Amino acid sequence: MFSMEKYLSKRAMSLYGVLGKQTSVPIPGLINLGSGTPDFSPPPFVYEAMQQALSNNQIRYTSWRGIPELRAAIADKLLSENGARYNSESEILVTSGAQEALMVTLMTLLDPGDEVITPSPHYDEYSRDAAILGGKLVPVTTRPETNFTIDVADLEAAITERTRAIIVVNPNNPTGTVLSQQKLLEIADLAKRHDLLVVSDEIYEYYTYDGHRHITMASLPNMWERTITINSFSKSFAITGMRLGYIAAPESIMEAMLPFHHAMMICANTITQYGGLAIMTNPRDWFAPQLQEYDRRRHLWMESLNELALPYSQPQGAYYVFVDIRPTGLSSAAFVEYAREHAKLVFQPGTIGGGAGEGFIRAALTRSSPDLDLGLERFRILIRGLT
Ligand SMILES: Cc1ncc(COP(=O)(O)O)c(C=O)c1O
Repeated sequence: MFSMEKYLSKRAMSLYGVLGKQTSVPIPGLINLGSGTPDFSPPPFVYEAMQQALSNNQIRYTSWRGIPELRAAIADKLLSENGARYNSESEILVTSGAQEALMVTLMTLLDPGDEVITPSPHYDEYSRDAAILGGKLVPVTTRPETNFTIDVADLEAAITERTRAIIVVNPNNPTGTVLSQQKLLEIADLAKRHDLLVVSDEIYEYYTYDGHRHITMASLPNMWERTITINSFSKSFAITGMRLGYIAAPESIMEAMLPFHHAMMICANTITQYGGLAIMTNPRDWFAPQLQEYDRRRHLWMESLNELALPYSQPQGAYYVFVDIRPTGLSSAAFVEYAREHAKLVFQPGTIGGGAGEGFIRAALTRSSPDLDLGLERFRILIRGLT
């Protein structure tokens, strides 16, 4: 009898079905209050740049590293906004989103059995990426009592001789925590003392609230040489489907990354790169009103949660609210199922990024009114019925 299992690698078997089923059939009345996809659109000039690129027949491979103009614009941005200087010829790689950037990074760093450590709850893809490579993501628990800010002593305790790097997401998905300069300096000090690299995922850098400030790891003293910065156009510029991101890293690391990038993509999508170039080289004042709207939604969420006396992690950055649903007595998974069935609301279970998120759900600020208002109303009724 034909058996597919016979042909699948052990790795494929171990990851079989981990993503769950994705349904493409919209369910009437269902409101997704957990989605990580922004509901905004970039300004017309971004579309025009891509249309122009198409009209100019820009349909061939670009340089593996990305079009030089885009790399130069990214290097300019990293210097002027983030205080980190990179050579656009040799230290910037344009990728198909941060997702490819992360995979390329871990392919470059991990041998089977190697470990990367990360504060947890964490972005769920990290563990799969490491597992695909036969490596291991070691989650280091952060706690609600400290607003999910990492205790560097816990991070240090997780270091073994197999540890290759620390992954830091700042601002954080799913907890919304923004790391202070002091905390970043402590992590940097740890990396230097243990001679580790830091993979700094900064894709939510523009989303900060209440005076919290995003600081780039590579800009800290003596961190440039041991930091791999990952960033993306997906979230900041609301173009998740365009699949455009980048890596900034010292030349020696970048050279080692190229074969992996080439093996998967050869180069990032050409048309999209021109869209990214337009974003980088035009004024970005259009983003401020979007951020204001996210902040408005954030306040709506916080007001509802306060009213319901439901605790949550302080949403300092990104566009997530990490809600403590322990007062309902349900687990994260059970709550998500219950909310879907009884209130037609979709959330992400806090456990998607590791066991440290048990008892929490991730709500996202990516839904506009009136859906958001209706969703919040349903959420309030749901919680009142459960508590
Ligand atoms: C922390 C984090 N890193 C990376 C990604 C992947 O982003 P991209 O769309 O740029 O591949 C996501 C997407 O949700 C994310 O939340």
